Parts: sequence; structure tokens; C-alpha cells
Amino acid sequence: MRKTLLDLQALHASGEKIAMLTCYDSSFARVLENAGVDVLLVGDSLGMVVQGHDSPLPVSIENVAYHTACVVRGSHSVFILADMPFGSSQITPQETFRNAAELMRAGAQMVKIEGGQEMVPTVEFLVSRGIPVCAHVGLTPQSVHQVGGFKVQGRESAAAERIIASSRALQEAGASLLLMEAIPLALADRVCDAVSIPTIGIGASPRCSGQVLVIYDMLGLGAYISPRFVRPFIRETGSIEEAVKLYVAEVKAGRFPGPEHCYSS
Ligand code: KIV
Repeated sequence: MRKTLLDLQALHASGEKIAMLTCYDSSFARVLENAGVDVLLVGDSLGMVVQGHDSPLPVSIENVAYHTACVVRGSHSVFILADMPFGSSQITPQETFRNAAELMRAGAQMVKIEGGQEMVPTVEFLVSRGIPVCAHVGLTPQSVHQVGGFKVQGRESAAAERIIASSRALQEAGASLLLMEAIPLALADRVCDAVSIPTIGIGASPRCSGQVLVIYDMLGLGAYISPRFVRPFIRETGSIEEAVKLYVAEVKAGRFPGPEHCYSS
């Protein structure tokens, strides 16, 4: 049986870390599931690592639905989270619902939406109509041109306060998970203190309830400069299966990420 949101909440309540990786196809879905990954994220990072673009902006809702269906067909027990790509969640809550419904029909169990306070009405709209939401704060790659590159966010105090306030507001709006990307360790810890829903970190803090990486990055296949938060597990193991098992073990044991994968203030 497939894991549900209740299983993720139970992991959080018991203090067991949630191991998440991105996944875009059915073969990887099978390997990742067998290695013990809890959640597969069909991320819009597929625009970069699968389609070869230099940002996730060209990814469409049809692309994410297609890859979600592939991942669903290759797995039977792992939880499926799908990304709302650029342009699919920014117009109105109603239009966002229509797009999110397409991902749910493809087999997603939750959708991930980038953004802060401005997304509160949209999150409320989706959650009140049966679509669970993972909020994504900090570095939101769909805003790469607005923020001038894939840069650490929240280093200035006003920006840090905005991230904390947004995280609280998104939880209040009904978000079930909060993903934070590329923010200073001390800020990530403050966000963990500010919310009670499970938190997922990528370049954030070991204190998060779980961690995520782009699968190709942890397999050493990243075509771009490797961000600080990436640990290329494949180099320590030699096979994809063993790399993913080591990732799961290190996340569950609280050994990944280490301080070397986190950002200073
Ligand atoms: O699209 C993606 O892969 C993501 C992760 C980097 C969190 O959003």
C-alpha cells in the first residue's frame, strides 16, 4: 500500500526523519522505493536535469503530469509529491486548482507550490477542496530572474523575518509540509521552531524533519556547479542502489546534512 500523508505525519511525530529524493521516471522510482526512500518528488528540476534547460521555467504542467504518471507506474508504496511548475500556480486559486487536479489525476498525492505570503489564498483554496500542499520557501528557483540567480536567501534580517512569517502563514493556510531551500542554518532552525508541520530541508538544517536532494546531483551527474548542499553519495558507494541506501541511512541517522552542507548567516 502507498504511504499517505498520515504516515509522513507519524514519522514526524515519532522523530524519524523523512527521506525524500526527486524522481522523474519509473525505473528510478523502483530503485528509490526499494532503497527505502519515503517520498519521491517529481520536481520541476526536471527542466534542468532531464530537459537540459538552464532553469525550471520552461517546464509545463503537462510535463510534470507525464513524469508523475511515469513515477507512479514504477512504484507502489512510496509517497508521490509533484511540483506545480512556473505559471501554473501564480494566476488565480481557481486556475491553480485546475492545474493541481491534473497532477492529482496523474497520481500525485500532494502538490508543491513555491512562494510566500502571496500564496496563502491559493493554499487555502486547494487545501479546503481536498488537495494537500507542500509549501516551498527560501530559494524558490522559479524566481531565479527576480532574485538574480540561484542564491542563498534570507541573509538580511528583513528577508529572514519574511521567510519566518510566510512559513507560519502557509502552515496557517493549511500546508501539510514546508520545504525550505538554500537558507542559512540559523534561519532554518528558527523556521523549524516557528512551525509544527514536518519541514523538509535542502541547503537548510539537519534539524528539519526530513531532507531532499535532486537524484542526479547525489549521483554526481549534475551538469552545473554543485551547490554546497549536495553530497555525491555515489562516490562513497559505487552503485546507484547503494548510494540511495546510504542517503536514506544518513538522513534517518541525522548525519546528512552535516555543517559542510549548510550555509552560514
Ligand atoms: O524541483 C525540485 O527538484 C525541487 C527541489 C530542489 C526541492 O524543488
